[in-house]
Amino acid sequence: MRLATLALACAAAMIGADGQLTAQTKSHAGSRWGADYFPNVELTNQFGEPRRFFDDLLEDKVVLINFMYTSCPDACPLETARLKEVYEILDGRVGDDVFFYSISIDPAIDTPEVMAEYAARFGTGAGWEFLTGDAEDIRSIRKKLGMIQPDEERLEEHTLSIMIGNQATGQWTRRSPMENPYMLANYVGGWLHNWKGPATPRMRMDEAPERLRNISRGEDLFRTRCSACHAVGTEGAGAARPGPDLFGVTERRDDAWLRRWIAEPDKVLAEGDPLAHELLAQWGRVPMPNLRLDAEDVDEIVRYLADETERQASEAAAAPAAEKASCCEKDDLLVLERDLAADGEDAPAPKRSPLLASMAGAALLLALAGVLRARAA
Ligand code: HEC
Repeated sequence: MRLATLALACAAAMIGADGQLTAQTKSHAGSRWGADYFPNVELTNQFGEPRRFFDDLLEDKVVLINFMYTSCPDACPLETARLKEVYEILDGRVGDDVFFYSISIDPAIDTPEVMAEYAARFGTGAGWEFLTGDAEDIRSIRKKLGMIQPDEERLEEHTLSIMIGNQATGQWTRRSPMENPYMLANYVGGWLHNWKGPATPRMRMDEAPERLRNISRGEDLFRTRCSACHAVGTEGAGAARPGPDLFGVTERRDDAWLRRWIAEPDKVLAEGDPLAHELLAQWGRVPMPNLRLDAEDVDEIVRYLADETERQASEAAAAPAAEKASCCEKDDLLVLERDLAADGEDAPAPKRSPLLASMAGAALLLALAGVLRARAA
């Protein structure tokens, strides 16, 4: 216990009590948090390869480390999905100048095979290792990183924080996986490289931090708890996500079912609900986690989903209906002219085809689908 407290104190000094950045000078820090600080225990990655914690995983590297377990019903899948977003924003740099490590805190269950299967479910790629090993060794790593609660008894109590750091410069900081993924990518891809690496992609306006524009509580909850796994129409379209698009979900599902599902999907499934089983069969590589939301949170999220659907529907119906008609009208005329030219006749003055007239009416319906497709492309 005394040892643990001591280690925690060290770790706290290292990362700063509030998890804020504590940059160290190279000479000072490198020697302090080097081979004699971190345990060089042997772990095994998802490919069954032995990996020494310091020599193979940390030394001279910029790393992102989280602790998880594959049977975790709530927070870990969300955390992994959010790290996947950061991974994608870093666009090929992971495995090159940034390394991701997800380390199991339930190694008896999480064999390399189980970890490999979990990694595959999230579609992780090069440079992201899922590691398991001896339970005591993993505890010692967590202690040194300050990633264990002194009174932690059950797996579910484990910290969801992630540790990011640059071993060579001794810059380490603890971050939350609920942070904006662009910010996290910026920390690992920019700050930890002293901004010398390739520029990290610019943050999209719609991902702008809350302070820049007022977003509702429902939208905020959605972004931190749901958007790693779900798009809503054009919001977040483009990236493959583990769960279905929630555009229009408040209309296509019964309200009570929807609220219950968002609050406790695991229980709905356990009760044998047919719709839940159908969805799981369709999407079930990553089951929807129970995120421990209360009724008020669920309320806010459902309102956001309804509002966002309506906003996009009216936006799509307004602007692009005209665009749509003019684009197809042009195409239609081009085809007409070419055909006539091929027949050796002079092209007559262009006339509106009857098809185009009915299209204007249909455009309203098509607009939505068209816009969604166009933006996704
Ligand atoms: C780790 C990924 C993940 C997270 C995080 C997540 N979901 Fe899901 N969600 C899924 C998956 C996968 C499904 C499909 C059913 C299944 O496999 O369990 C799903 C299904 C759903 C459905 C049913 C869709 C339909 O067509 O009826 C709704 C609604 C939903 N999720 C809402 C949410 C909300 C709201 C949040 C945030 C509070 C959220 N989900 C967080 C993965 C996730």
